[in-house]
Amino acid sequence: MPTAKISALGCFVPPGILTNDDLSKMVETNDAWIVERTGIRERHIATKEIATSDMAVAAAREALGQRGIEASELDAIIVCTVTPDMLFPSTACLVQNRLGAVGAWGFDLVAACSGFLYGLTTGAHLVSAGTHRKVLVIGADTMSRIIDYTDRGTCILFGDGAGAFLIEPSENPAEGFIGHISEIDGSGAQFLNMPAGGSRLPASAETVAKRLHYVKQEGQQVFKFAVRKMYELCDNLLKKHGLKPSDVKLLIPHQANKRIISATAERLGLPPEKVVLNLDKYGNTTAATIPLATRDAIADGRLKKGDLVLFAAVGAGYTAGASLWRWAY
Ligand code: UT7
Repeated sequence: MPTAKISALGCFVPPGILTNDDLSKMVETNDAWIVERTGIRERHIATKEIATSDMAVAAAREALGQRGIEASELDAIIVCTVTPDMLFPSTACLVQNRLGAVGAWGFDLVAACSGFLYGLTTGAHLVSAGTHRKVLVIGADTMSRIIDYTDRGTCILFGDGAGAFLIEPSENPAEGFIGHISEIDGSGAQFLNMPAGGSRLPASAETVAKRLHYVKQEGQQVFKFAVRKMYELCDNLLKKHGLKPSDVKLLIPHQANKRIISATAERLGLPPEKVVLNLDKYGNTTAATIPLATRDAIADGRLKKGDLVLFAAVGAGYTAGASLWRWAY
């Protein structure tokens, strides 16, 4: 059985920026509250011509360019998103066509903020099964399209962006994918969701008037679950592989709230220099946070070949997961 490794990475964020001060002109909030309660200072927002597949394609092209391969060499494309261009066809199909990834198959994966992590796990298993040699996992979300900019509890949190990892077999069994723990708990569905637009509540004048096509969240409920689960899964995963938190070079968590990340790091006993935080610049980009944070860690010289890296995420569903990798480039 081959080991799966991450061999390239690409990212895209739209250039437009929405700052905390901008938001304070739209809803009753202020920079000091947002920074203290979330750690977020600004987020990138796509102009109306840009949809999720556009950002996904840009991130994918960067990853393919970095690895120096053609899209036609891809075996599969997984697009992790809760903001597909449309409900069907899948965004993976649109991306495959735009890239010219002839012969690839693929699908969209809906796991909200844990989406990229679940995509990584799926991609790693496709490769380590020996049936796929090049799997592109893309996390892309245009959250600004489903955010209610009159709701100060949610509009301060989210931004737009995309990131992609290429997963391939490794010649070296000591590098690449080590293992994961993933869990879903649908009892949390009521606390974070977008109520309308599906088969339960199809679009109607009423759903629009009631603003049901936007993200609804009970922030404190999600916060409490995230703080507990992120630590629990990281700790369990390390123990499962006979590792200690001190063995980890970097924790790259989903970027939802600085306080969730700090609480997780503290309980694991990880010092701040071992934890990647970049939500001040991007906010919560849902499926794109982990690749964006990984890119920044590489750019800052904090993530190098051979490092043990722990990814972790919690999100709507509830969905949650942790994934351990030995960085391979
Ligand atoms: O990726 C997974 C998805 N989501 C998350 O992980 C988010 C998890 N939750 C959170 O990050 C936090 O719950 C929030 C950042 C959403 C909210 O922070 P909080 O510390 O839980 O605030 P709260 O909802 O308990 O509200 C505290 C106070 C309230 O006022 P009162 O009732 O104490 O007078 C709110 O009305 O802060 C008020 N408030 C605000 N004030 C200024 C809520 N939002 C704002 C705001 N600006 N934007």
